[in-house]
Amino acid sequence: MQYKLMLCVLLCAVFSGDGQAEMPAAAATCGACHNAAVAAATGAPQLNGQHEFYLQKQLQQWQSGTRGQHPDDSRGQQMAAIARALSADDISTLARYFSQLPVAAVTETNTDAALLDKGRRIYIGNCGACHGDKAQGNEALNAPALSMLTKDYLALQLSHFNSGVRGTAKSDRPGRQMALISRSLSAADMQAVAAYLGAGMP
Ligand code: HEC
Ligand code: HEC
Repeated sequence: MQYKLMLCVLLCAVFSGDGQAEMPAAAATCGACHNAAVAAATGAPQLNGQHEFYLQKQLQQWQSGTRGQHPDDSRGQQMAAIARALSADDISTLARYFSQLPVAAVTETNTDAALLDKGRRIYIGNCGACHGDKAQGNEALNAPALSMLTKDYLALQLSHFNSGVRGTAKSDRPGRQMALISRSLSAADMQAVAAYLGAGMP
């Protein structure tokens, strides 16, 4: 508790010094896994700049058990345990806060031109209609932004949708829609489109 408080005092000072939104207390522990610099190591996606509606939905789903309950989803289980400690107010506040933070660039270098070209063609043909031509997302279609996510996180989520680890709950219409789409992709297609997005859509 003492530590949490200290962390907040330190980080809140840094954030307000930057002229950014003041960090809510409930966000004090999120950065330990979600900050761009450490996200690659923990497997946690970047939350900065993601749509508020989507962050809110995911946090509610971790809580209600519609995401992160599958036995093969150890990372999801970890995040579900964290979400269960949040109140409904925390969830709204956190979703708004992270959606307003500036995206930290995480563009990955990839020199495999053939792979990137394959990924680009898949994206334009199968993904852009919902996720947007710059992968900026589209609230009207419940589609999150993908532009700030890493290749590894994208590939893992696609394989989770594809294998029924994510997006199977009856109440989760957007998840089931994405799961259906993922099943039209081969494992190689998923790697290619993830590489293309992770490299900043060259
Ligand atoms: C111990 C590490 C850890 C901490 C601390 C943590 N997370 Fe996570 N979070 C993860 C991981 C790992 C994932 C990805 C799970 C997966 O692969 O499906 C995740 C996923 C998420 C997602 C889904 C994002 C998306 O693009 O679908 C949201 C939203 C989220 N976390 C919010 C939070 C918030 C808010 C906090 C602080 C209250 C927090 N997390 C703290 C590890 C963590
Ligand atoms: C018909 C609209 C639609 C199309 C087409 C579509 N998606 Fe999605 N996608 C969604 C929706 C809706 C969600 C949110 C699911 C949820 O709420 O859990 C999503 C979620 C995702 C996620 C999870 C992001 C995260 O932060 O965890 C990834 C990755 C993804 N889509 C990749 C793709 C790729 C790659 C393609 C093309 C092969 C694609 N999508 C095509 C609607 C679509």
